[in-house]
Amino acid sequence: MDCTQNLSLGDPLEPVRKATAQMLNERDHSFSLPQPFYNDERLFQVDMQEIFHKEWLIAGMTCEIPTKGNFLTLQIGDNPVIVLRGNDGQVHAFHNVCRHRGSRLCVSDKGKVAKLVCPYHQWTYELDGRLLFAGTEMGEGFNLADYSLKPVACKTAGGYIFISLAENPPAIDEFLATLTHYMEPYDMENTKVAVQTTLMEKANWKLVLENNRECYHCNGSHPELLNTLLEWDDVTDPRASQAFKDQVAECTTRWDKDNIPYAHASFGLRNRIVRMPLLKGTVSMTMDGKQGCKKLMGRITDPDLGSMRILHLPHSWNHCMGDHMIVFTVWPISAQETMVTTKWLVHKDAVEGVDYDVARLRQVWDATNDQDRRLAEENQRGINSTAYQPGPYSKTYEFGVINFIDWYSERMLNNLGDTPAQSLRQVAGE
Ligand code: FES
Ligand SMILES: [Fe+2]
Repeated sequence: MDCTQNLSLGDPLEPVRKATAQMLNERDHSFSLPQPFYNDERLFQVDMQEIFHKEWLIAGMTCEIPTKGNFLTLQIGDNPVIVLRGNDGQVHAFHNVCRHRGSRLCVSDKGKVAKLVCPYHQWTYELDGRLLFAGTEMGEGFNLADYSLKPVACKTAGGYIFISLAENPPAIDEFLATLTHYMEPYDMENTKVAVQTTLMEKANWKLVLENNRECYHCNGSHPELLNTLLEWDDVTDPRASQAFKDQVAECTTRWDKDNIPYAHASFGLRNRIVRMPLLKGTVSMTMDGKQGCKKLMGRITDPDLGSMRILHLPHSWNHCMGDHMIVFTVWPISAQETMVTTKWLVHKDAVEGVDYDVARLRQVWDATNDQDRRLAEENQRGINSTAYQPGPYSKTYEFGVINFIDWYSERMLNNLGDTPAQSLRQVAGE
């Protein structure tokens, strides 16, 4: 027996995995999920292991760690992760766990270091994860090379940093190439986060996503957002009016001239990009629809770019306008608790108080996020009732929710098939 490996107490989640797969196989695709998917702590653990520890996640933006030694940290379920800019100028990610006795290595959210030094006994790592120093008392046979930080899969594209805790993450390069193309006008290396917020919601992460994937609730809940947002994601939407189709035709002619990508691109149900106009006469998601930042992003010269919407399942949606962009990421905390981060990005050279006012920039989405938080929390309260049973989705208004739940089900079933317990059963010929 190799005593340097983790030994397991057995897997108490195995019956939960089986029940999860069975419920997904038997579900009606046009109905919301059975109650345990939204409120059960054990099923939440399966969500974390099979979705958040296996799929690609957006860790942050490259402009947040602009130079070597800049780092940011995040927590994915039980796993602390560090993302940093190495001496080679590239972005790398590691498990934020010291190879000595396992202390968390970087404890702050963000910062800049020359080397990574563990606060416990000062083991010291190079920015590429190699152990450089481990004290003088580790004995003769101790080999520094055996104790590098454990790497986390990491890719960058269009200013976004993607990470995956999986050993063999799913294919994503085709989407990343398209994302790079669509983000080119924004010159993301020359942007900065003007402000960011963190919102804690007492709701399961899937309810936060479901709520985001439809605008059926917008009329009743989002007066600030509807000052500028048009609900339709495409001219093919059966609800799209002729006036909207005419507006799209006018905008796309202009965008073509400026070489601004807009056409709908989808990668399975996981990723979707499309640029759509905002309400006629408005150019940005501000209270009055005027620019939130006077300085436009990247090489953009026409402020009227509508909003490019980027979806990345399981946990991010984005709005990219001419003057600023907004990046939302969703981080599950427990079965009924979710953290939503919102980042507003502007041109790196935009000056606060001159080009933009932070309070004005964040006003619409502060209000909208809080309205969505209340909706998700009330949804959770109702679902916790013994009276809850799955209810029907509208194919017209809630196709985005259907797509999200279909993606989740497909990935969950796929990833459950990969569990070691399943492989063991196969070996045993069960
Ligand atoms: S746990 Fe990091 S140096 Fe001891
Ligand atoms: Fe909403």
